[in-house]
Amino acid sequence: MNIKIKNLTHAYDVNVLDDLHLDLDGYHAIGIIGISGSGKSTLLRILAGIEKPNQGTVEINGQFADDKHYKQNIGFVFQSHTLFPHLTLLENITIVLEKTRGIDKQTAKKTAIENLTRLGLDDQKDKRPNKVSGGQAQRASIARALSVNPDILFLDEPTSSLDPILTDEVLSSVEKLKGLGKDFIFVTHVISFVKDFADYVLYMDQGVIAEQGTPDMLDNPKTDALKNFMNKVR
Ligand SMILES: Nc1ncnc2c1ncn2[C@@H]1O[C@H](COP(=O)(O)OP(=O)(O)OP(=O)(O)O)[C@@H](O)[C@H]1O
Ligand SMILES: [Mg+2]
Repeated sequence: MNIKIKNLTHAYDVNVLDDLHLDLDGYHAIGIIGISGSGKSTLLRILAGIEKPNQGTVEINGQFADDKHYKQNIGFVFQSHTLFPHLTLLENITIVLEKTRGIDKQTAKKTAIENLTRLGLDDQKDKRPNKVSGGQAQRASIARALSVNPDILFLDEPTSSLDPILTDEVLSSVEKLKGLGKDFIFVTHVISFVKDFADYVLYMDQGVIAEQGTPDMLDNPKTDALKNFMNKVR
């Protein structure tokens, strides 16, 4: 994908993102890391067009992030699953396809089952979210985000509410999506996943991209901030 960020500044009370610039081309899985409060989720939401920055522009694959066509072509997975509790995993997907994309019932069901199967959930499809594990619910959220056939899938710490075993299960499922030809932009605190899956890494510190590069930069941090961060997460 191609990402161009220019003069991106965003504030709530104080500056959360402080005059970011970025020009990347040809990467397919961008991992965003950094301590809590460094601005990762804010940057991800702005890249996904969910939030509008106070200042600056974000262009992805030649489209501005606030363009409605761009927004139709992305999927977003939040920290904890956002499935409708009263619907089955299958219905959680078909309702989105039918109501927001105008897809007919039969095609919606076929697409939903295809994506649930991709995430290893074909045998769980008729259960409601509270009858499956946290990892399965999160995988269903990923299946739902994929069902609209997005060009880019955004994931904001999809495993932060899960124990290590479920975390592993969800992240392995994500790794298997590599062959789909989609692009990924994700926030995670699981460094081994960044090393396995990302082809580019952004390290955020106090609202700026303090260090960036291919994942091998994690073994050889240049800044003290990333050095300290790596010592903490190890
Ligand atoms: N909607 C909001 N209103 C006010 N302040 C906010 C809002 N969202 C985020 N912030 C503040 O912006 C800063 C960056 O938040 P952000 O959620 O982007 O950080 P993060 O790196 O994703 O942190 P975490 O690892 O804890 O998820 C924090 O200081 C946070 O308190
Ligand atoms: Mg966050």
